[in-house]
Amino acid sequence: MTKLRSNLLVVAEDGGTPLERATHALPDIEWAAVLPTIEAINALKVERNAIVLAHNYMTPDIYHGVADIVGDSLGLAREAARTDAEVIVFAGVHFMAETAKITCPDKTVLIPDPNAGCSLAESITGVDVRLLRERFPGVPIVAYVNTSADVKAEVDICCTSGNAVEVVRSLGADEIVFLPDQYLGKWVASQLPEVKVHLWEGACMVHERFTGEELRSYRTQTPGVQILAHPECPPDVLAEADYVGSTAGMVGFVRNVAPGNRVVMVTECSMADNIALEAPGVEFVRPCNLCPHMKKITLDKILHSLRTMTTEVHVDADIAERARRSVDRMLAIGTSAAAPAGGTR
Ligand code: 13P
Ligand code: SF4
Repeated sequence: MTKLRSNLLVVAEDGGTPLERATHALPDIEWAAVLPTIEAINALKVERNAIVLAHNYMTPDIYHGVADIVGDSLGLAREAARTDAEVIVFAGVHFMAETAKITCPDKTVLIPDPNAGCSLAESITGVDVRLLRERFPGVPIVAYVNTSADVKAEVDICCTSGNAVEVVRSLGADEIVFLPDQYLGKWVASQLPEVKVHLWEGACMVHERFTGEELRSYRTQTPGVQILAHPECPPDVLAEADYVGSTAGMVGFVRNVAPGNRVVMVTECSMADNIALEAPGVEFVRPCNLCPHMKKITLDKILHSLRTMTTEVHVDADIAERARRSVDRMLAIGTSAAAPAGGTR
């Protein structure tokens, strides 16, 4: 047994340790190649009093080998606010690391590659939000958490894909502005027809590429397949889905699928690779799309990050304080029971 941080040695539900289970996530030869890096990262975590928070879209070597906590954006934001560790290494994209810094200003938050961006976060600025305020005076503005800190500082409340409907419902407003994801906004509008939703025309470059036609052809080729789609997908895709929810919601759904069934996860490719171990006997059928930003985070970069304590995420104190209000308002609102928000490894 390799010497690892104790939280990685907790006995998993299936009787093996997470690391033992993780060895099944990669072919032996690949696993042998990454093991020394995994060991080095886990030793450095102890030395630095650091934890690795990893988004569900990380590759299996990160997800199973070095993550202390995995989850969707909502779960990771919650866990960042809760941890006692002094250092958070965020294995995810920049807006997620920034959100962690906003919720824990006294901690050191590191991102292994500061260029891991997001097409949604890049589609809107704080200046754009101020112009929306002028255009829609008195109308609450809701920002998907996939935004920069200066956007969060200008809005009334944040949401994630795991709680967007609950957040908008909690406002009790008959009209809102929803930004920047037009498709998540349309999904919210479809769930709350009594609310008029003004949309910003941003989109996720990964999820907007799926089509309803593609899914209909999967249904024909694979009778009985269950289709799980992320709400960042266009409406014709969501219309074909048996379940619509955040990445953590999908994990919760798959845990209840009986062996022998087939599932399509209409989202980023690493999702199926990561959760296949938790759903033995369930067959994951493609399609999936890769997020080039998420894939910038690698084991080697996590190791470099911990060795050199780079790249540290900084948020201007005034912006952070105003952004924290929007994030805290969101965190005060629960998430639907169908969407577990994350889990400790
Ligand atoms: P969730 O983690 O909230 O499901 O979002 C997926 C995503 O695309 C994050 O960038
Ligand atoms: Fe952004 Fe889409 Fe990548 Fe998530 S999957 S980080 S929303 S581009």
